Amino acid sequence: MKNILVISSANMDMVLNVASVPNAGQTVIESGKYAYVPGGKGANSALAFRRLGGECTFVTRVGNDANGDTLTSLYEREGINTSYICRDDDAPTGLATIFVESTGQNRIIVFAGANQKITQGQIDSSFESAPDALYMQFEINHDAILHSAKVASERGIPIFIDAGAADLSFPFNKLPRLEVFSPNENETFALCGISPSNEEKCLEAAVSLSKLVDAKYIVIKLGGRGAYIYDGTKGTYIDTFPIKVVDTTAAGDAFTAGLTLEYLSCGDIYRACRYANAVGSLTVSRKGASNSIPSRDEVIEFLANQK
Ligand code: RIB
Repeated sequence: MKNILVISSANMDMVLNVASVPNAGQTVIESGKYAYVPGGKGANSALAFRRLGGECTFVTRVGNDANGDTLTSLYEREGINTSYICRDDDAPTGLATIFVESTGQNRIIVFAGANQKITQGQIDSSFESAPDALYMQFEINHDAILHSAKVASERGIPIFIDAGAADLSFPFNKLPRLEVFSPNENETFALCGISPSNEEKCLEAAVSLSKLVDAKYIVIKLGGRGAYIYDGTKGTYIDTFPIKVVDTTAAGDAFTAGLTLEYLSCGDIYRACRYANAVGSLTVSRKGASNSIPSRDEVIEFLANQK
């Protein structure tokens, strides 16, 4: 079983189901529902690794507060190695406010809180877990990302980065070579100014991203259009599956986790991408963040029912 070291964020999500988001200065009264659900791009991916059959060590930082208690006990129940999660006495647990519109599309605002205070000490000791891969996103402090990548690279551990939430101020030139770098459509546009709206634009965007980040594969997540893989020479579209979209929250986190785990097992990025498309499809068909991520058995059954 592959052991993934996730060094990334943990949030409590306040999810508001709304008909549409208000304009500036406008107040709207909603009759829809709201809920507090465990989220955070890192935590969603860590939970995905477990549900999809991997081992996972999760390094993050939460506050000394009720949300920190709720989140860490969830990770323990799900079998995540929580030995290197720290509680911060000053900063609160990260909080995300998520508006989900009737189309299933979301808008997210993250208050990073303790996520921005992950220390080098936490990171250094977490490599004791003998990971097969390092997995990160951009919701934590830049120095934590750079330090983790440096340690992994020195040890020959492959690095996978999901580009959420894209941050152009990140010093990409200081990253070592990555195995996979995976932005979604918005992140692609934010990082290179090209919207991957068709095959030609996908290639243009991927070539531009490959100048920003040194990665064996760039995998652009295209939502309902699947994904686009660029290997440094050629690009390939991998179609996704038709599904009724209920809530897109955490779909990207689950997709990249599924891609990483399957790629580590089979070594074939194209096959891994088909599997990841199935993970993403099942995630968007359900409400919520980490609670909407499928198990490996559900993914296999879903794939078996496709043409
Ligand atoms: O990708 C979805 C996640 O983004 C949410 O769970 C939220 O916490 C933000 O991190």
